[in-house]
Amino acid sequence: MEQAEWAGTIGDVWAEEWRRTDRSFAGLATALNAAIRANALAGARTIADIGCGAGVTSIATAQAFPDAQVTGLDISLGLVAVARERSHGIPNLSFVAGDAPTAIHDLAPVDLIVSRHGVMFFDDPVAAFAALRSAMTPGGRLVFSCFRSPRLNGWASWLSDGGAPPPPGIGAPGPFAFADEGAVTHMLAAAGWGDAVAEPVDYRYRAGEGEDPIEDAVSFFTRIGPTARALRDASPAERAVLLDRMRALMAEQLKHGAVDFDAAAWIWTARA
Ligand SMILES: C[S@@+](CC[C@H](N)C(=O)[O-])C[C@H]1O[C@@H](n2cnc3c(N)ncnc32)[C@H](O)[C@@H]1O
Repeated sequence: MEQAEWAGTIGDVWAEEWRRTDRSFAGLATALNAAIRANALAGARTIADIGCGAGVTSIATAQAFPDAQVTGLDISLGLVAVARERSHGIPNLSFVAGDAPTAIHDLAPVDLIVSRHGVMFFDDPVAAFAALRSAMTPGGRLVFSCFRSPRLNGWASWLSDGGAPPPPGIGAPGPFAFADEGAVTHMLAAAGWGDAVAEPVDYRYRAGEGEDPIEDAVSFFTRIGPTARALRDASPAERAVLLDRMRALMAEQLKHGAVDFDAAAWIWTARA
């Protein structure tokens, strides 16, 4: 998955689907927001949310740090527009559209960088994280989340279990770019970040709920993530097979009125 796709169609779809993407991450948000509060330097004044998407982490951070100025940076104009609209009236929060490792320099020096799954799409992660690092106050902190292995993320692995192409792999720009803890440790060190530590977090990925949770989950996966890509690339016959499999699987996952999957993330912290 490339940055250009986020700046185009994929970003536009996420902008339309922000309620359901936020819902899918809700189980992670509590742990990430707690890590952000715990790791900020006392008196942090300038905070950047990288790949902020529709802005929910920027909003939580602005509310947690009322004396700081929080800026959400995202490459998708559509997502930045949603983030601005839903956060209207929060005085210490603004959003900038652009490539984050470039745009962050207008905010320097930055005391804290945060990100919920917004840093896995750089073509050259070492160069991007070095650029982020160079905008920091010495000793400033980095807190971001990313997915662990696709095997531990049932919402993504079911697709390849049935023979469809696997999601973009570990190490390649995409949702699983930073699944390998050792590789990310090296990448952060090469980019000039110190004291890097990863904490594993398991959570429930909510795919469907409401009046018809199965159809809600099917329509969500048709729009978002590796399943949407597989459906787009499939022939009409393959598409029909995939949709049937998906409906059956969503039915298996239905419990207590919701379709949930296992999900596994890292929360990384590091120091500039
Ligand atoms: C998986 S989404 C996460 C969005 C948001 N943080 C959330 O938790 O809902 C990844 C985000 O990174 C953004 N992104 C990707 N490459 C970027 C770049 N080079 N600069 C800024 N944003 C980028 C995308 O547009 C997208 O909003």
